[in-house]
Amino acid sequence: MKKTLLGLVAALSLFGFALAQNGSSLYQKNCAFCHGETGQGRPGAFPPLAGHSVELATSPAGRAVLIQSVLFGLQGEIIVKDQRYAGVMPGYAQLRDEEIASLLNFVLEAWGNDKLLPPGYRPISAAEVAAERSRRLTPLQVYENRRRINLR
Ligand code: HEC
Repeated sequence: MKKTLLGLVAALSLFGFALAQNGSSLYQKNCAFCHGETGQGRPGAFPPLAGHSVELATSPAGRAVLIQSVLFGLQGEIIVKDQRYAGVMPGYAQLRDEEIASLLNFVLEAWGNDKLLPPGYRPISAAEVAAERSRRLTPLQVYENRRRINLR
């Protein structure tokens, strides 16, 4: 019994490790080109995700917008850390729910972001991604939703 439990714990932590790895490689493959290998972005062109994506994850509405931005893209002027961005971010609806969840969990925990997460924060689940996916938004509609949340 004890052995089975230990085996289960080992398997689960390996699974967690695989998910984290997956998020990191999905990020490098799909996002690093614009947002930078360490999420630093490029001022005026691509907003940073290091030190910033966590700001979106502090409220349920912001969490939804974060997921929607990756699923459907984002189009409209935004200001991040006093820099103006008026670009277009492509959507990644071709990725599976679990992939988007582990990608976002990587982004929210990498580069010191984990230290900025609000108390009681829970990782993003595939079910949350599925719920947002069913809304089928355009990048402009995601932008409208983003305007409604109060970013610090
Ligand atoms: C072709 C360049 C490009 C790629 C690739 C890209 N993004 Fe973006 N991303 C942008 C731009 C430009 C914006 C800002 C859009 C705007 O000004 O409305 C943005 C915005 C965002 C935002 C919203 C930030 C905010 O403050 O609302 C998040 C989150 C994000 N990207 C995550 C990702 C993730 C995760 C990936 C990989 C799946 C990715 N991006 C791939 C260009 C890109």
